[in-house]
Amino acid sequence: MSGGGAGADARLPAFGSDNWAPVHPAILDALVRANAGHVHAYGADPFTDEAVARVRATFGATAEPFFVFNGTAANVLALGSCVRSWETVICAETAHIVGDECGAVERLLGVRLTTVPSRDGKLSVDGLRSRIEGVGVEHRVQPRCVSITQSTEYGTVYTPAEIGALADVAHGAGLRLHMDGARLANAAAALGVSLAALTVDCGVDVLSLGGTKNGALGAEAVVCFDPALARDFVFRRKQTGQLASKMRYAAVQFTALLSDELWRRNAAHANAMARRLSAGLAAIPGVTLTQPTEANAVFVTVPRASVDALAGGGAFYVWDERRTELRLVCSFDTSPADVDRFLSHAARVLA
Ligand SMILES: Cc1ncc(COP(=O)(O)O)c(C=O)c1O
Repeated sequence: MSGGGAGADARLPAFGSDNWAPVHPAILDALVRANAGHVHAYGADPFTDEAVARVRATFGATAEPFFVFNGTAANVLALGSCVRSWETVICAETAHIVGDECGAVERLLGVRLTTVPSRDGKLSVDGLRSRIEGVGVEHRVQPRCVSITQSTEYGTVYTPAEIGALADVAHGAGLRLHMDGARLANAAAALGVSLAALTVDCGVDVLSLGGTKNGALGAEAVVCFDPALARDFVFRRKQTGQLASKMRYAAVQFTALLSDELWRRNAAHANAMARRLSAGLAAIPGVTLTQPTEANAVFVTVPRASVDALAGGGAFYVWDERRTELRLVCSFDTSPADVDRFLSHAARVLA
């Protein structure tokens, strides 16, 4: 990402990111319901038990969830369950862990990230194969984990078959498969499949499960599908400062999201608004879509001279300054009127 959020006036339609959105009312209700009386701290409470049961109902009985405060920590802790300091994580060069986590993985785990060029945010099977090298050579870092993001940083979506193919190559070479699922809900809603169908069912070993971008107040989870990866997790979480003492408040957010498919309704709405925005922008002369709009993010290039005027009509990020590529993200609370207002403004600016 380059540049900053433009047009951050609260009265304007906001496409800055899905974490610019407020908290979904059902999540706030869940927090209020949990806000009564004393319970044990650090997760030894009935609210956390219920959330764990929800996660297992969603992903299968062997899923082992650990709630944390944010996505960066979820990624660090999930990858930390897979690699040792002489090992490396293979990922697309566009991965959030590469460009947008301030080197947290390298700093906190002390491992190298081995990147693969990607135009659409996805890691290809050939790209992955090309980086599995130097195995057993004591002078070389050892490939041990693959990390993919679903939906990707470019708003594209891996199909279950694509994930399965990556899992087969990874597992065939003795590597683990990690998924950064900050926006897993958007991918599953886009494909009309379950959360399990995109993760445990196609070979993901450990998942960073997003809540915040899907309407939570601030809760993410690491879900281990292999019990071996869950071993010692609680100690690493505590050491990393990610063990919530009032765990019930993180837990109830996941219970709410995973009940009655609130996660899917939120994500499907955000995706639908992104499709509306994408179709409208594509019809404006001077605007070019740079990625297919498969989830809740829209990527376009616009004439450089128009950026400031465009930002006067709503918030977005300048994603790539060199080619004036903008990223616009829709959320559970984006309304059709928000989209249409921005489209009218863009059409005026670019006329
Ligand atoms: C794909 C992806 N992964 C991880 C994160 C990290 O989340 P957090 O900001 O909660 O650390 C983000 C946040 O933007 C993200 O977009």
